[in-house]
Amino acid sequence: MDIPGLPARRAALKLLDAVLRRGETLDSAMHNAVHGLSADADRALARAIASEVLRWLVDFDALIDSVTRQPLPDDAKPRGVLRLMLAQWLRLGTPPHAVIATGLPLLTGGPRRLAHGVFATLTRQRATLPASPSLPPTVAERWGERAGSIAAALTEPPPLDLALKHPDQTAAWGERLGGVSLAPGHLRLSRGEAIERIDGFGEGAWWVQDLAASLPARLVGNGPGRALDLCAAPGGKTLQLAAAGWQVTALDISAKRLERVSANLARCGLSADIVAADALEWDPDALFDVILLDAPCTATGTCRRHPDVLHRVHPAQIAEMAELQQRLLQRAQGWLVPGGRLVYAVCSLEREEGEGQAAAVTLTPDPIRPEELPAGLQPPPEGWLRTDPGLLAEAGGMDGFFIARWRR
Ligand SMILES: C[S@@+](CC[C@H](N)C(=O)[O-])C[C@H]1O[C@@H](n2cnc3c(N)ncnc32)[C@H](O)[C@@H]1O
Repeated sequence: MDIPGLPARRAALKLLDAVLRRGETLDSAMHNAVHGLSADADRALARAIASEVLRWLVDFDALIDSVTRQPLPDDAKPRGVLRLMLAQWLRLGTPPHAVIATGLPLLTGGPRRLAHGVFATLTRQRATLPASPSLPPTVAERWGERAGSIAAALTEPPPLDLALKHPDQTAAWGERLGGVSLAPGHLRLSRGEAIERIDGFGEGAWWVQDLAASLPARLVGNGPGRALDLCAAPGGKTLQLAAAGWQVTALDISAKRLERVSANLARCGLSADIVAADALEWDPDALFDVILLDAPCTATGTCRRHPDVLHRVHPAQIAEMAELQQRLLQRAQGWLVPGGRLVYAVCSLEREEGEGQAAAVTLTPDPIRPEELPAGLQPPPEGWLRTDPGLLAEAGGMDGFFIARWRR
């Protein structure tokens, strides 16, 4: 029989192997890694441990290397197990004896003795972490002068943001749920409760959506008219557009992910035409008044919730996404009525997917104005917008997005 707590640690190790060695996302690795765990709490613990390792990997490795005579190979099992053990001790507050009891059984023989020795030395030295995680050097280089404040935002899990179906009821819902609002229709809650148990979920009064993720659809404006939500699943922006009075066509290549759009629309009492198609091959029957292209991207702007992006996104993936984005943008530009509006968005912090794409669009720029944004956000003179997790940090930050707007 397994030692209590051991299966969750084993699952965390599998998650890390999937992300770091096979380049999988944490979300997609979850299914395989945790399918043997019956308790929700064990699955949540496995994910929490893996997430902390991914956030603090550079610092855990530095600690491990500080007490070994020769650096352990990157993919050596003792290093993997030590990362798990340090995440539990230094980030999740697990007492060292419990960390040892559930960590060392993952190893045998010499590797077990080695891990025990390293962990014992570090606890004896009362090892500590820096105030915020160190980014992998290539990532820090890509994010340039924003890297420090983005890293600081990785220190604590992000708050939970809700988007309200009726923005004019923001104050009332703020009181009911005890949230803080940074924009009409936005509420920020401290984490904790299961989403389904939060007041208003069943009646479809709101959906979960990061503040930054709500900006692209806000910048489309209000209907009436025909709107195309191009790359729509799981549908946060479809809900916003439908709630703002547009007659929405929600298109996505993934029929499976579109099921979530339909479920979200039904829960919130909203409607849209759902189209499962490849936007690179599909053609509309009629032109649209507005198009929102929330393009597939490397999603590095979601690094707070998905710290796997810190380790599995490399220049090759960025280049591949940039090429797809360019082709999608090209097609979308031809589907607008004259005077129609195009909003392009990606939840990526990479210039190639943001500024680099916007530069190639031939429509007339429709600059974003400061008064259209939550207080404290400022569009640069070019008129597009860049957000990142270090912005409005005292209020809880936000995901990283690039957003730009044009008219035909
Ligand atoms: C960033 S996500 C969209 C998020 C969504 N707009 C929301 O707010 O919930 C990108 C989406 O693009 C879809 N996608 C990727 N390639 C596509 C293509 N060639 N045609 C249509 N959709 C595509 C993916 O299935 C994915 O759902």
